[in-house]
Amino acid sequence: MTATPPFLSEILITEAEIQQKVCDMAAEISADYAAILEPGEEVLLLGALKGVFIFMADLSRHMTVPVTVNFMDVKDMENRARASGLTEVDNDIALTIKGQHVLLLEDIVDAGLTLNHLVRSLNLAEPKSLTIATLFIKEALRMVVTPIKYRGFDVGNKYVVGYGLDYKEKYRNLPYLGVLHPDARR
Ligand code: IMP
Ligand code: MG
Repeated sequence: MTATPPFLSEILITEAEIQQKVCDMAAEISADYAAILEPGEEVLLLGALKGVFIFMADLSRHMTVPVTVNFMDVKDMENRARASGLTEVDNDIALTIKGQHVLLLEDIVDAGLTLNHLVRSLNLAEPKSLTIATLFIKEALRMVVTPIKYRGFDVGNKYVVGYGLDYKEKYRNLPYLGVLHPDARR
């Protein structure tokens, strides 16, 4: 068993549990797309940075349909939205998603506001389809009802780190998901 480091109060989801879930999600997602993809089409895996980088790397390697990958800097989009009042995807992203089957990947959905903004602006770029997958979700805290087709674990109302998720940019590289210890929050 992995020892719990002092900056965590517990290990919530083990590395093995995460790997099993990601594998299962990739199988389900691949089967669903295999049924709708036409010859020559692929799935564009679009990740919301930065937290999604590990989930993207693991999920994509278990996918059995053709995929391409791209990433968006969500923080950057939100900062620009604050300045202009609009959340817009940049032109590069808009061009790559037009006419594509887009699977938007999130590390964690909390209130869902980030996701809601993203979905609205991505739809303006006219993807052929737009579907959402998140590895972690805080179902109790959701305020926005953007439909999420694929979801891994409900983590309740806890601040979690690891497997891509950070606290002040730290702990993203932990292979498991842990609950941040109150003493580590400063
Ligand atoms: P929301 O769904 O708009 O509330 O915000 C979701 C974003 O907040 C995620 O993409 C994460 O970057 C961040 N976030 C929310 N909860 C956690 C957590 O427990 N640990 C680390 N980051 C979190
Ligand atoms: Mg995020």
